[in-house]
Amino acid sequence: ATGSGAGPRTESGVGPRPRDVTSFVEQRRGTPDVRLTLTARREEVSIPGGPTVTAYTLNGTTPGPTIRAAQGQLVEVTLVNESVPGGTTLHWHGIDVPNAEDGVAGVTQDAVTMGRSHTYRFVAERAGTYWYHSHQVSHEQVVKGLLGAVVVTPKAPDAWTGADTALVALSHVYAGKRTINGRAGETRIEAAAGSVVRVRVVNTDNGLMPVWVGGAAFRVLAVDGTEVHEPQEATGRAVLVPAGGRADLGVHVPATGVRVELPGAALVLGPAGAQTPAPTRKPAASVDLLSYGTPVALPFDPERATRHFTYSIGRRPGFVNGRPGVHWTINGTMYPKVPMFVVSEGDVVRVRIANKSGETHPMHLHGHHVVVLSRDGVAATGSPWWTDSLEVSQGQTVEVAFVADNPGIWMDHCHNLPHAKEGLVAHLMYE
Ligand code: C2O
Ligand code: CU
Repeated sequence: ATGSGAGPRTESGVGPRPRDVTSFVEQRRGTPDVRLTLTARREEVSIPGGPTVTAYTLNGTTPGPTIRAAQGQLVEVTLVNESVPGGTTLHWHGIDVPNAEDGVAGVTQDAVTMGRSHTYRFVAERAGTYWYHSHQVSHEQVVKGLLGAVVVTPKAPDAWTGADTALVALSHVYAGKRTINGRAGETRIEAAAGSVVRVRVVNTDNGLMPVWVGGAAFRVLAVDGTEVHEPQEATGRAVLVPAGGRADLGVHVPATGVRVELPGAALVLGPAGAQTPAPTRKPAASVDLLSYGTPVALPFDPERATRHFTYSIGRRPGFVNGRPGVHWTINGTMYPKVPMFVVSEGDVVRVRIANKSGETHPMHLHGHHVVVLSRDGVAATGSPWWTDSLEVSQGQTVEVAFVADNPGIWMDHCHNLPHAKEGLVAHLMYE
């Protein structure tokens, strides 16, 4: 059923359907529908409107090419490492791929050293906005630009709710300068007056990123690749996108043009010849995804959990490479001593994350999407808030749930990448 009827609208995207694992892994073996080679290099890049930096590129650009697939298509990407020292990989952030395709150096594969290549294959199971990035010395290689966007377009057109066209707004900071799709400052894009544009915002940096729309109405259509069920107008509020997270905005284009603003950069959408609207300030209020959109049934029952985990994020002084530094801890221990969270296939898992570390942490679980049940004891009341990149602020306690339907060993870590290097890493493992 489509439209606003009751019951789960899993096809149009209120949440992932539990999958058949065997066919999920087997279907990688067919003829690819989308096939490309990405060649990684270290080179000088002059950022349009910004600085010249020593960056990591894919096929000569940073960000690398946007990979586009239709839902259900088999994607094959061959990564060639031409000149990235120390080796590299590609991780498909937010795409729940089979474990062997996850691209985590030291966990699911070895880093691809210079002169070598590695081929990834996966079915683009779910429509949405995703990205790819290196998962080898990530705190250096991602910062230096070894990344790009992935867009999976839906089978069911109703998932496009209210948008005529779509574009990617991948945000990345190079040497302190924010860019959108690799350009600093303002990017003008022609859009007809009266149209609605789906702007796929991707935060590839280490901090929480606000995005706001100056001078027009908008809605949040999707979060981390999952459609919001019946989203309301969010006009006049900012959307906070955690490190690694994505938000698709449905932006109404008035005849006078509209600005989609990030701190220090903007996309300007408007009819040809329209004047550029003036910059606007970040609104004080932001959209709270806990209560945004309209509730609808989940594809599983979180009240029937078969596993419960609690983890508390802390901080402890210690030594990093022989120098005094900070260690992040999970239940008092630091990676690699953090015990693995062990599940069985088919488990309904509930996880309570308490942050007592003094800083905020954007937590990213690989291979799965979780639904947020509550924050600080306040139950979610909006559209199911499915996420793979969840900001857990200092002092907050967040409870999430998911179905364990993707066997393997999966990282769960802070996407403020220096924090991951400082030990804020756990693993989910299937027994
Ligand atoms: Cu986007 Cu483990 O990473
Ligand atoms: Cu962190």
